[in-house]
Amino acid sequence: MSNAKPAAAWKALESHAATMSKTHLRQLFAEDRKRGERMAVEAVGLYLDYSKNRVTDETLRLLVKLAEDSGVRDRIDAMFRGEKINVTEKRAVLHVALRAPKDAKILVDGKDVVPEVHSVLDRMAAFSNRIRSGEWKGHTGKRIRNIVNIGIGGSDLGPVMAYEALKHYTDRSLDCRFVSNIDGTDFAEAVRDLDPAETLFIVSSKTFTTLETMTNARTARAWSLAGLGGDESSVAKHFAAVSTNAAEVTKFGIDVANMFGFWDWVGGRYSMDSAIGLSTMIAIGPERFREMLSGFRQMDEHFRTAPFTSNLPVLMGLLSLWYNDFFGAQTVAVLPYEQYLKRFPAYLQQLTMESNGKHVTLEGTPVEHETGPIYWGEPGTNGQHSFYQLIHQGTRLIPCDFIAFAKPLNVVGRHHDMLLANVFAQTEALAFGKTPEQVKAEGTPDWLVPHRVFEGNRPSNTILAERLTPETLGKLVALYEHAVFTQGVIWNIDSFDQWGVELGKVLAQRIIPELESSSEPALEHDSSTNTLIRRYRAQRS
Ligand code: F6P
Repeated sequence: MSNAKPAAAWKALESHAATMSKTHLRQLFAEDRKRGERMAVEAVGLYLDYSKNRVTDETLRLLVKLAEDSGVRDRIDAMFRGEKINVTEKRAVLHVALRAPKDAKILVDGKDVVPEVHSVLDRMAAFSNRIRSGEWKGHTGKRIRNIVNIGIGGSDLGPVMAYEALKHYTDRSLDCRFVSNIDGTDFAEAVRDLDPAETLFIVSSKTFTTLETMTNARTARAWSLAGLGGDESSVAKHFAAVSTNAAEVTKFGIDVANMFGFWDWVGGRYSMDSAIGLSTMIAIGPERFREMLSGFRQMDEHFRTAPFTSNLPVLMGLLSLWYNDFFGAQTVAVLPYEQYLKRFPAYLQQLTMESNGKHVTLEGTPVEHETGPIYWGEPGTNGQHSFYQLIHQGTRLIPCDFIAFAKPLNVVGRHHDMLLANVFAQTEALAFGKTPEQVKAEGTPDWLVPHRVFEGNRPSNTILAERLTPETLGKLVALYEHAVFTQGVIWNIDSFDQWGVELGKVLAQRIIPELESSSEPALEHDSSTNTLIRRYRAQRS
């Protein structure tokens, strides 16, 4: 970090961390009986309890100072103003414009982008309504019953996550499926029981050049044509495209009337509320989609205006940075106690790790601090019966985000109270553990005591909302988007490029002809890669 101000803030936190590493949550709670009430923030309908973190008021003061001295406020304003803060790609970063109200004005290169955003949303709504009502007919005159989104990364994970998260609100007479992997099994299994006459493919790709997506799209085109008698005119009825690249869409043969655009200032992993969300809109309807956008917008406004001490994304970003940079924590576990959020951790993996997995600063010099932690997780209570053992008694510090809702979407007997009891029990057990004295007092033989001791002092956040709705989902996603942003600014990295995915793509393109060549290719890789390629060629035939 070249700037002296953040350098001093880092130093102050380092010496504070030395004290805090010796402080137990039991002590912090004993010293302040109101800690659990005090160390919580409620904003836009989300309640964040961060009291079970290894922090004091002083920690928060120092972390907020780090954010201030790192220029987080200026960078938030720069993002909302449409400045080209994605410096390596020379692009604005404006996912916030995707949910801006109609009367907002956001300029990119002197042009207001908000009218275009709303015009695409309106076209998506008209298209979705035609599919949902059955007015849109397939080539043979049958109505569309199946939507297959073909995309990968941000053009897949957002749509899949949102479809699963909002399944409760979907039209069950329509089936949405998702094909992402270049592994042919993904496509084969997705379409095996589908009737081409009732199936609409949405080819979603920002660039419309991604190997996996274009390969799957061509396979889908062939499958669809084969099932519809080979009439090329059927493509217009069974294919839509979502892309920034109109030229490639036309080349592929998809009618531009069925194309929904977005812009280079929307990063793939920040695009689920752009036209990339077309499958989501078809599934839940335009009204609900707009409710989701409203949720995003409410969190955007909170992030833009709230003081850092009560700013949910800033606090979440700072807390995970605290463990990542001062306690050597390598990961963050995201544990939604809501079955519908089963794909949320996978979605967050791209959002957080593609954004902040960077080793150089904006100036291109090596970073001085550890950057993006590894995000992972599973819905509760399933994880409790597999990996929670390590979180409770392993040797690693794993900060956890618990996410829960007061009202269930499916009222089934006593299930919801039992589910929520588990959330509260887990955070309590992680924080306070069980001392050797307590274990002994239960009559445990001495030899077994160490095995049954829970050290506690394991930090967690609890996010509690009333109910999982499209609006709540928008708020949750924006919460993590902006937490990632906050961290990226403090680490002084570009959270919006992804050069790290390039090398593997280039090498794969070089290897494909070597695998497909009918004669033995001259291989010039390393000895391991050469041997693997030869072995594959031999075994395959
Ligand atoms: O390879 C990574 C990536 O570029 C992601 O950032 C992106 O979300 C994904 O590939 C898909 O890209 P596209 O939407 O252009 O097909």
